Amino acid sequence: MTPIYQTSTFVQEAPATHKGYEYARSQNPTRTALEACLASSENAKFGLSFSSGVAATDAIIKLLVPGDEVIAAEDMYGGTYRLFTKIYEPMGIRFHFVNMADPDALRPLFNDKTKLVWTETPTNPLMSITDIARVASICKEKNVMLAVDNTFATPWVQNPLDLGADLVMHSATKYLGGHSDVIQGCIMLNDPQLRDRLYFIQKSCGAVPGPMDCFLVLRGLKTLHVRMKAHAENGEKIAHYLRNHPKIEKIYWPGFEDHPGHDIAKKQMRGFGGMMSIVLKEGTKEAIARMMTNTKLFALAESLGGVESLINHPASMTHASIPKAERDKIGVVEGLIRLSVGIEDVDDLLEDLKIALEKV
Ligand SMILES: Cc1ncc(COP(=O)(O)O)c(C=O)c1O
Repeated sequence: MTPIYQTSTFVQEAPATHKGYEYARSQNPTRTALEACLASSENAKFGLSFSSGVAATDAIIKLLVPGDEVIAAEDMYGGTYRLFTKIYEPMGIRFHFVNMADPDALRPLFNDKTKLVWTETPTNPLMSITDIARVASICKEKNVMLAVDNTFATPWVQNPLDLGADLVMHSATKYLGGHSDVIQGCIMLNDPQLRDRLYFIQKSCGAVPGPMDCFLVLRGLKTLHVRMKAHAENGEKIAHYLRNHPKIEKIYWPGFEDHPGHDIAKKQMRGFGGMMSIVLKEGTKEAIARMMTNTKLFALAESLGGVESLINHPASMTHASIPKAERDKIGVVEGLIRLSVGIEDVDDLLEDLKIALEKV
């Protein structure tokens, strides 16, 4: 097994003559092994691993300078929205939020200051789909970088670089780690100059993961394909059950033919994963609380992508940092509940949801 190099520094042969490793903020052999594995998972030349998904996103935004503009998905993880609007907007970077499911909506937003397009697909929590190849071709035409947050899909299901993106980012905390026991992020890419710039940002700003965490993500990656198959199988059965349930108003899961992004999802993804969101017919706080406190296998918690099923209330949890008016506009309503379907026995999961829904 890859050793866990639990060391902050490395003995050198002579002043400034080292054996490939000098100080663990710059490099660590366990991290090097992980970064090679991450790169190969996305058919990328390079991988960089960070202390969290948000730290990986942060490094990408640090490629920009005040005055630069970004076109970003209006529906995405709340923490990314918070980073953009609360940290970088006050520093002079301008963000335009747009419905990425409609690539033509991007066109009027480009100008000579646009440096980056940021999307997430499927989005958290509404499972909206970006046509990566189409958006990538618009970005190429405009000479603007495209970054894709591939956390929900995983490299097993979708490879944005192969579809023309310049950067792919993951919260490795989720499916890549897979066991809800580590916080980590990563970026995979092909351009050597961009890699060097991001590496410089990484070592200068210091958001690096520890060796034990790198070991855990390496271990998680070994079973990614097996877990993803199980997540997708369970996800499909649960999505169909919930769709026909009388207490459910709406379900967001890209595997349904009437999901707005289904055809693109089918084209660019190898499966539809285990993430989905539902809206209860009775969208009151009390009804939501009754559902969410009565599941036993679906644990009420933030995060997703672990082997254990989780249930989450985006409006008050993962997406609380998005103002209510914005949330309502995009569909992250009070009554929305997000499920991360794990790999437990599917009949047990169905029974768990059935009992909780009876209490609504
Ligand atoms: C889609 C997506 N991107 C990024 C992040 C941020 O990752 P982390 O929590 O590892 O910083 C999350 C976390 O929930 C996420 O769901």
